[in-house]
Amino acid sequence: MKSVFKLLLLVSVIVFAFNCKKQQDNNVPLASVDIYIYTSSPSFIDLNAIGGYTYITGGVRGILLYRKTTSEIIAYERNCTYQPSQPCATVVVDATHILATDTCCHSKFSLYDGTVTNGPASVPLKTYNTTFDGTTLHIYN
Ligand code: FES
Repeated sequence: MKSVFKLLLLVSVIVFAFNCKKQQDNNVPLASVDIYIYTSSPSFIDLNAIGGYTYITGGVRGILLYRKTTSEIIAYERNCTYQPSQPCATVVVDATHILATDTCCHSKFSLYDGTVTNGPASVPLKTYNTTFDGTTLHIYN
């Protein structure tokens, strides 16, 4: 009886350890972000049309800015949420211009709201806070 208990204990420790690893794999690391950009600058011309996007440095693997509406720009962390520590876990906008994907396991995320449209990822792209007054964009956490 004692050995059955020991076996059960061992199994639950193993299951717990695997669950932990799985969760960690979905955790994009924290990065402090406090960036101002001016959309009137020629380098951000792509953000002036709705649906436009551009990349900036910052965050963990860089930030993808997406002009969602006249008054809203979304700031996505480019680190893929599935196995974010992989060297290739950085999303780029694909040929559709409405999805972002990583180059190794090809998870796809909607640029509109960051949700997963194709696995293996199950967690949406991480976003940073933004405020936008029509010319100045503040990205922060
Ligand atoms: S690294 Fe995330 S799906 Fe490829």
